[in-house]
Amino acid sequence: MVNVIGLGYIGLPTALMLAANGVEVVGTDINKEVISKLKEKHITFKEKGLEELFEKALDNKIIFDSEYQKTDMYIISVPTPYDRFSKKVDPTFVVKAFEEVMRVAQHEAIVVVESTISPGTIDKCLRPIVDKVGRQDIHLVHAPERIIPGNMIYELVNNNRTIGADDYGIGEKVKTLYSSFCQGEIVVTNIRTAEMTKVVENTYRAVNIAFANELMKICHHDKLDVYEIIRICNMHPRVNILQPGPGVGGHCISVDPWFLVGDYPSLAKVIDESMRTNDAMPAFVLHRIYDIMREKGMKDLSKVGLYGLTYKENVDDTRESPTLQLLESQEKHLGTPLKVYDPLINSDIVENQFHDFDVFLEQIDFIVIMVAHDEIIQKESKLAGKIVLDTRNVLKNLDVYHL
Ligand SMILES: NC(=O)c1ccc[n+]([C@@H]2O[C@H](COP(=O)([O-])OP(=O)(O)OC[C@H]3O[C@@H](n4cnc5c(N)ncnc54)[C@H](O)[C@@H]3O)[C@@H](O)[C@H]2O)c1
Repeated sequence: MVNVIGLGYIGLPTALMLAANGVEVVGTDINKEVISKLKEKHITFKEKGLEELFEKALDNKIIFDSEYQKTDMYIISVPTPYDRFSKKVDPTFVVKAFEEVMRVAQHEAIVVVESTISPGTIDKCLRPIVDKVGRQDIHLVHAPERIIPGNMIYELVNNNRTIGADDYGIGEKVKTLYSSFCQGEIVVTNIRTAEMTKVVENTYRAVNIAFANELMKICHHDKLDVYEIIRICNMHPRVNILQPGPGVGGHCISVDPWFLVGDYPSLAKVIDESMRTNDAMPAFVLHRIYDIMREKGMKDLSKVGLYGLTYKENVDDTRESPTLQLLESQEKHLGTPLKVYDPLINSDIVENQFHDFDVFLEQIDFIVIMVAHDEIIQKESKLAGKIVLDTRNVLKNLDVYHL
C-alpha cells in the first residue's frame, strides 16, 4: 500500500493515478477540510480530466484519511515555499511530514519525496532525522514532479521522470511503482542529481523567459514587434526563445530558481538577475497601463479592469500570480484597486472582483489581458470599442496594445 502525504495540486492527481491503475492507495492530508471533501467524493480543485480519474480511483477503493498510515511506501508531496529574505528553500513542511512518517513507517519502508527541494536538502534536513530517530532501515528517494497545471493528467502519463535513490535496487522498485501509470522514460540516478535536475529545469525556463522579457523591453524602446522577432528567431534550428509576459507565477518557475540563488549567491548571477527581471514584470505592466492612460487622456483608474487572476491560463491556481503582484504593487502607490475578473475564481480573493464577464465589461473602458484563458480568446469580439492591453499576445482581430 502507498500512503500519499499531501493532497494538493501534485499529491492528489498522483494518488488518484496510482489508485486508478490498481495500486492500493491511502491519501493523507493535514487539512481536515480537504480530507472530508474528498471523503464526500468532491474534488478539491479544477483540472482537465481530474473528475474522471477520481471516479476510477474511487471504483478502485482509494481511501482518504487524516492519519498517516503504517506501510512500506510513502510519497511526500507537501509544499516547499522559499524564504523571501534568504531566498533559500523552506523545508519545514517536508521535514514535518517526514518526521510523522518516521513515527509509523514499517521496517525498510521507502519514503519518496516528490516535493521540489533544493540540491542537498535530503542530506541536510532529512538524513539527520533518520539518524536522530535511529531509522537507518528507511530508504530515502527523491522523485521530483514535472507536470504542468492545465495538462496534469496527460503529463502524469506521458512525461519522462527522474528517480534519485541511494541504492539502485530501491530506485528500480520505485520505478516499477511509477510504471503502473507512467509511459515516459524513467531514469534512475542518485539523490543529489535528482534534486539538481528539477531545479535546473525550472531555472532554464525562468532564464529563458527573462531573456524574452528583456528583448520585449528593447523592442518596445525601438518600436519593434518582439513577437515577430521571436517567431523568426525560433525558425533557426537551434534557437527556442519563450514568450514575454506580465510576470511568472505558480509554484515552480517563480520559486525554484531562487533556491539556487539562495544557496550559491556568488555563483548564480545570471539566475539572480533573471529572477529579478521576471519579478519586476507586474510593475512594468502597471507602468504600461499608466502610459496608455496618459496617451488616451484617460484619468479614471476605476475604468480599468484586469482580466485574469490565476498565474496561467485555464487553471484555478493563483499562487504567485502576476495579477496579485500587480495589485500589491499598485496598493503601494495608494491607487484605487483596479477592477478584476477571472472566470475560474469563484470566491472573492481581492477587492473589486467581478464574477460576471458582461457586468465587468460594462464597468470598464480599458481592459488588460493578464491571463489567456480560453474564454477571452473566444469572446474577443466583445472587447470591441475598449482600450485593450494584451500582455499575452493572444487577441488576433482587434487593434490592441502590447507590452
Ligand atoms: N503545483 C505545481 O504545479 C507543481 C509542479 C511540480 C512540482 N510541484 C511541487 O510539488 C510540491 C507540492 O506542491 P502542490 O502544488 O501540490 O502544493 P499544495 O499546496 O497544492 O498541496 C500541498 C498539500 O500538502 C498538505 N500538507 C502540508 N503539510 C502536510 C503534512 N505535514 N502532512 C500532510 N499533508 C500536508 C497541505 O494541506 C496541502 O493540501 C511542492 O514542492 C511543489 O514545489 C508543484
